[in-house]
Amino acid sequence: MKKLEYGFFIAIEGIDGSGKSTLAKNIYNYLNELGYETILTKEPGGTPLGLQLRTILQTKNTPVNTKAEFLLFAADRAQHFSNVIMPALNNNKIIISDRLNDSSIAYQGYGRSLDIETLKHINNWAMGDIKPNLTIFVRVDTNIAFKRIKARKEELTDFEKEQSFMNKVAFGFQEMYQNRTDVVTLDGNKTQEELLADAVNTIKKHLQ
Ligand code: TMP
Repeated sequence: MKKLEYGFFIAIEGIDGSGKSTLAKNIYNYLNELGYETILTKEPGGTPLGLQLRTILQTKNTPVNTKAEFLLFAADRAQHFSNVIMPALNNNKIIISDRLNDSSIAYQGYGRSLDIETLKHINNWAMGDIKPNLTIFVRVDTNIAFKRIKARKEELTDFEKEQSFMNKVAFGFQEMYQNRTDVVTLDGNKTQEELLADAVNTIKKHLQ
């Protein structure tokens, strides 16, 4: 196994149906085959507590206020950082996280109109001020994303039901990332093979 001198932390972001979860798995498999010590994790649901919070957030058997919704994601994040991200960084591993703090800015900030500065402040606190070294944003047309979500034939979550909500979230990601030097945008309309090749090119440059 190849061990890096420092940990390297990658977040994969995008709207539902962007193909980011498949990409995250493919990057993980690729880096493992190259011999890098890599972990694949996600938000929400990267810890046992997070999995319980994920069920609450996705099923919403009881109505959840928008601030409470954000705080449940933040609780998942705090547990994720203390139990998974920080130990992996201390062990110089590569971490691939399928979603992270920027999802809260896009979904709860732009999507649900919560105050973005407040969300950022709570996110930083939950994350112990640790930030990913690189964020890969998989940008896809919302029409294509919707077709992919429907083709899964699974029950739609609250976040996936309305195209108008998804449009706000998609706009949020694009506006948030337009001037960020730590973000690389990939074309999610491409095939998974092409996406993986683009992602690997980017990651290799950063690891050198
Ligand atoms: P996933 O389907 O990518 O696993 O994400 C679960 C859903 O949760 C997805 O619709 C996006 C949403 N989400 C938020 O609304 N805010 C957040 O902070 C995170 C991490 C996810």
